[in-house]
Amino acid sequence: MRFIQISDTHLGKTTDYAYNGFNSHQHLEMVVNAINALPFEVDFVLHSGDVVEYGSAEEYHLARRLLERLRFPVRYAVGNHDNAVLLQNALLGIESPASRYDYTFEADGVQVAVLDSNNGFVPSGTLTETQLANLRALCTAEGAPLVIVLHHPPVTLDTPWIAEGWEGFGFRTMLLDCGEAFRAALAPAQERLRGVFFGHVHRAYQVVRDGILYSSAPSTVIQFASYPEQRLPKPAPEEPPAFALVTVAAEQVTVRQYALARP
Ligand SMILES: [Fe+2]
Repeated sequence: MRFIQISDTHLGKTTDYAYNGFNSHQHLEMVVNAINALPFEVDFVLHSGDVVEYGSAEEYHLARRLLERLRFPVRYAVGNHDNAVLLQNALLGIESPASRYDYTFEADGVQVAVLDSNNGFVPSGTLTETQLANLRALCTAEGAPLVIVLHHPPVTLDTPWIAEGWEGFGFRTMLLDCGEAFRAALAPAQERLRGVFFGHVHRAYQVVRDGILYSSAPSTVIQFASYPEQRLPKPAPEEPPAFALVTVAAEQVTVRQYALARP
């Protein structure tokens, strides 16, 4: 099973919207073209959240026009800049949207579970008790190979501003606020878990914890500097837009990133 992971596209209400100084629509258009030109097939494109900047219907209509040009099916996780109801409704045409957009699907023998970790437009992520109970029910020892997706990192990433937040913004973390409960839920399924894929941090990270791979994709528009000991976030315009390719084979999981020159 193979998928492309894109993340944190931060589209605005118009095609000239600038996110941290860069035209996010133009950058995503370039990434869409690059994916469509790949000389191989994938099962789907995963968007790990923050499709748009302000969670409005106008933004999702614009996103839809661009992302429906991808030649592969697209699966979405809800980010903190997203609105789950409008994402389902305006982007995906779902008429009776759920308040939290959780779902599972099957791709080439692998079960993929996508969780909505939105905490209401703040940088930290969360899961409800019901979501955690569903996750525990899903993560049994026996079953098909399993992949889990959510926007927020459920593990710490060796960078203080991500783990602890920063002064003057009134929040304590960029991480999932129930990482311990999340990881405890996953533990019984460790043997069949092929990875947990997230976004949000605008950088490719790979972490192995409790024998489970946690991997993020870079942003399609701008990365954030996140060095060890760094206490304040900082845009890294010198780093290019990029996407990830994930291959889940019987014997191993391979993750790699492809960077593109800015348009
Ligand atoms: Fe985010």
